[in-house]
Amino acid sequence: MKKRVILPLIAALAVTTTVGTAFGGGHSDTNPAVKARNAQMSLIAYNMGILGSMAKGETEFSTETATAAATSLAKVAKLDRSILWTEGTVQGEVPGTRAKAEIWSDAAGFEKAAVGLETAADGLVAAAGQDLDALRAAMQAAGASCGTCHKAYRGPRN
Ligand code: HEC
Repeated sequence: MKKRVILPLIAALAVTTTVGTAFGGGHSDTNPAVKARNAQMSLIAYNMGILGSMAKGETEFSTETATAAATSLAKVAKLDRSILWTEGTVQGEVPGTRAKAEIWSDAAGFEKAAVGLETAADGLVAAAGQDLDALRAAMQAAGASCGTCHKAYRGPRN
């Protein structure tokens, strides 16, 4: 290859890499919907962690902090599922996902589990405005909603 061909090629490659990194966070081969829903789950887990350490007495109960975490969790739990759980982005077909085929073959069941989390998150918001006992009870329900869905719709580690 002549030099005048190689240089534009390198420039083009550099642009592709930069754009890929900007949207893919370094894993340009990961499906964007998979990345987005795992980011959603990470945010949910982050807020659950804040509430969980209060529930366990590791950090002091604060209505303000608990409300901030619960409100964030509730908002994130309500992201539109149609653009996150896109058809075909199933474990075994697309790299990096643990989404089971049942998410689509049993869409009603998956929706029910997702609404279960939304309801549990609303319970967390209400409890955060009350006291530690209320938060502990609401955390039980929220934790159960994670487990119910993961058991049925999340596959083994890749
Ligand atoms: C409606 C079903 C559903 C509910 C409810 C749910 N999850 Fe998930 N979660 C999933 C699925 C499916 C995956 C795997 C997604 C993938 O790999 O594409 C996942 C993945 C995760 C991950 C891995 C994220 C990553 O970066 O790999 C974490 C952490 C997580 N969930 C935490 C939680 C917590 C905490 C709760 C409860 C507060 C919860 N989830 C509730 C379905 C659910």
